[in-house]
Amino acid sequence: MSKQFDVIVIGGGPGGYIAAIRAAQLGFNVACIDEWKNAKGGPALGGTCTNVGCIPSKALLQSSEHYDQAGHHFADHGIEVKGLSLDMAKMIGRKDTVVEQNNDGVLYLFKKNKVTFFHGRGSFVGGKDGLYDIKVAGADEEVISGKHVIVATGSNARTLPGTPFDEDTILSNDGALRMVDVPKKLGLIGSGVIGLEMGSVWRRLGAEVTVLEGLPTFMGAVDQQIAKEAHKAFTKQGLKIELGVKVGDIKTSKKGVSVAYTNAKGEALSLDVDKLIISIGRVANTIGLAPEAVGLALDERGAIVVDGDCKTSLPNVWAIGDVVRGPMLAHKAEEEGVAVAERIAGQHGHVNFNTIPWVIYTNPEIAWVGQTEEQLKAAGKAYRAGTFPFLANGRARALGDTTGMVKMLADATTDEILGVHIVGPMASELIAECVVAMEFRASSEDIARICHAHPSLSEATKEAALAVDKRTLNF
Ligand code: FAD
Ligand code: NAI
Repeated sequence: MSKQFDVIVIGGGPGGYIAAIRAAQLGFNVACIDEWKNAKGGPALGGTCTNVGCIPSKALLQSSEHYDQAGHHFADHGIEVKGLSLDMAKMIGRKDTVVEQNNDGVLYLFKKNKVTFFHGRGSFVGGKDGLYDIKVAGADEEVISGKHVIVATGSNARTLPGTPFDEDTILSNDGALRMVDVPKKLGLIGSGVIGLEMGSVWRRLGAEVTVLEGLPTFMGAVDQQIAKEAHKAFTKQGLKIELGVKVGDIKTSKKGVSVAYTNAKGEALSLDVDKLIISIGRVANTIGLAPEAVGLALDERGAIVVDGDCKTSLPNVWAIGDVVRGPMLAHKAEEEGVAVAERIAGQHGHVNFNTIPWVIYTNPEIAWVGQTEEQLKAAGKAYRAGTFPFLANGRARALGDTTGMVKMLADATTDEILGVHIVGPMASELIAECVVAMEFRASSEDIARICHAHPSLSEATKEAALAVDKRTLNF
């Protein structure tokens, strides 16, 4: 007889592993199946996020930022650096170590919470008597059965038709995080989150970076006042961003890659680079899952169809994270994982989609929560806006990092905060206060009345709240 579990989680990324741990905490007998392999063929839990996403990109963003600071900004502090050099193999090795620490961390958490781990690919093979049979193929080979199945199989990088990734010259996020030589010229297609983060890493390390973006607007989903400020900063740093392009033929040769494109004016041009990163979004991954074996419904884009509670078309089969609708963010996947485990336990798990923060870890960082000014205008909502520049913040001046601002949007009648948008130093950390405020449905006056430590960047948030009522104290 096959091993039987209360809950089987397929996929060990941030959605899946967190769902497995929460389900185990709630007293269920839980299995998690994940197929990711490390360089030695062993398990590498943590999914895209840990292996080729959030964690390695932030490790390289940090290393490259140190290099950029030492090369260009330490002198402003009276620190002279002589003989600065780059050991790329060491930098990539450090990044790999950070990844491994996180992989091992998840394995440890599984042991601690008594989650049974299977290393291999999980696929539906059928089911009866209220149980689903899942075949594991890989290092572990067996069929296991479970009452509930949580699918958390994540996403893969989208390819341009006719231009598959070879991870040597044509790179996805995977190859973009593994280059051991800094390319002289680097091209990126897509100025989304990956384009900006990876473009920043390699520009700081010395590459001449050109980004080709299809849309005429820079960061269309971001509040445009913030996007314009960021665009100004990136351009000043030397990132070349061409908007409104139409990419044509892409040819690789021994010399590198040639990308034919027409620019916004309709001129036919070509971009010749050593390496090309294609970062044009990601697609839901159900490769090898065999959803057809049990009739699990997918939508026209290949994502698993779910309702607001992550219930699929099948009873007791749930799906979370990048493989379903909604933003492709690790913390969104985690929140859904916790909520589903709690719903299986009969509790009322809840994910508030209005308060999911976004962070882009460039320099300056960009972070936001809630609605943009453009969205409020389109919805005909009456609002008041307050902005405060980091230029007027004492801590930012002391840090030598005064780019950007905090912008707060509040309901014109009730003063409830509807959105906060930040471009500037440590925006990734500052946004947390704003998420808490919005979760508790705070008004801008609430933030304005809270005592914020001095000197701190968070005072800019308080001042932006004061600005909503046109009464900033330091500007
Ligand atoms: P994944 O992390 O993709 O995990 C899915 C797992 O399932 C994988 O391990 C896969 O091998 C496994 N799997 C798939 N099919 C099967 C199967 N049939 N059987 C067994 N195992 C299977 N998000 C952020 O919030 N912050 C960031 O800073 C951030 N940075 C990013 C940087 C990059 C370069 C990229 C590419 C993404 C980044 N993301 C970031 C997005 C984030 O990585 C994803 O939103 C997140 O990983 C989604 O989690 P998930 O659990 O749904 O899927
Ligand atoms: P993205 O959706 O952020 O950006 C893709 C960009 O490519 C868009 O600007 C789009 O207009 C452009 N594009 C699409 N097709 C094109 C074409 N044919 N020619 C030129 N431009 C084209 O996708 P990206 O950057 O690949 O990242 C995928 C996802 O991964 C993100 O949306 C995000 O969910 C997640 N991620 C999150 C990070 C974070 O939270 N800090 C970091 C990196 C990724």
